[in-house]
Amino acid sequence: MNYECILVETVGAGARKTGLIRLNRPKALNALSDPLMDELGHALKAFDADEGIGCIVLTGSEKAFAAGADIPTLMQHDFMSAFNSQLISKNWEHILQVRKPVLGAVQGFCLGGGCELAMMCDVLYAADTAKFGQPEIKLGVIPGGGGTQRLPRWVGKSKAMDLLLTGRMMGAEEAERSGLVARVIPAAELMDEVLKAAETINGYAAPVVALMKQLTNQAFEVPLTQGVQIERGMFHAVFGTANQKEGMDAFLNKRAPNWPQP
Ligand code: CAA
Repeated sequence: MNYECILVETVGAGARKTGLIRLNRPKALNALSDPLMDELGHALKAFDADEGIGCIVLTGSEKAFAAGADIPTLMQHDFMSAFNSQLISKNWEHILQVRKPVLGAVQGFCLGGGCELAMMCDVLYAADTAKFGQPEIKLGVIPGGGGTQRLPRWVGKSKAMDLLLTGRMMGAEEAERSGLVARVIPAAELMDEVLKAAETINGYAAPVVALMKQLTNQAFEVPLTQGVQIERGMFHAVFGTANQKEGMDAFLNKRAPNWPQP
């Protein structure tokens, strides 16, 4: 597939590399058009299937991660066309099928569908220039990419209501305080730091990384007791893998682990 709305590259020096995807519609502040979301889904699937890739980093530009769904396209819809074309749902959720960690690196505007896409990442790192918000209310609509559901889970009900009902933007420090982002990093250092985190993750045993991601995301889907039971079962299962033998043997013999290939 030829990409016109995203830039894709592989970075890193280790055995397993990082798949880097940059949203790239600069004239529209990376507004998430259908072609862009199709390309993003394709690139995510390709990196996920590539055994040479450890994690995926998703980012935008200095000015915007993404300023939302593409408003001129939305403007053309009525109820039937939105329903029939499965507006938003059709190509927005490929990211949720990815088994490898997806690290979001946010600079500038991260609004509406942009914020919803960011919340589908597994971890968010924000530049000190990042601005998050769900301004759909200003357009006379509600979020359609999970904003009313994921935002309360990330930042709590009161902060989510404040953002959703006022449509205001929240800066990076506030986003970190409220739990939306893992770390705030000076803009000039953002990509280096995120790629460093990705490289650390790439160095761990791939099946254990995938399991960690799956279980942590599951915490938002199942009741606590059931989640802990599933974790316990998986914890027992990892003792049947060569990764556990190698990791613990390496620790006890004071050497670096040499993870078996999956
Ligand atoms: N869709 C399409 N184009 C967009 C866009 C969007 N979401 N956001 C910005 N653009 C375009 C602007 O139309 C403008 O294009 P032109 O130069 O051709 O006029 C260009 O990007 C630059 O934007 P501005 O001139 O407005 O830049 P600014 O720095 O003055 O303001 C901004 C930046 C505050 C982000 C402002 O552009 C803005 O408010 N954008 C809309 C944000 C928004 O409402 N997002 C929600 C969309 S709906 C949604 O996402 C639904 C959902 O849940 C999936």
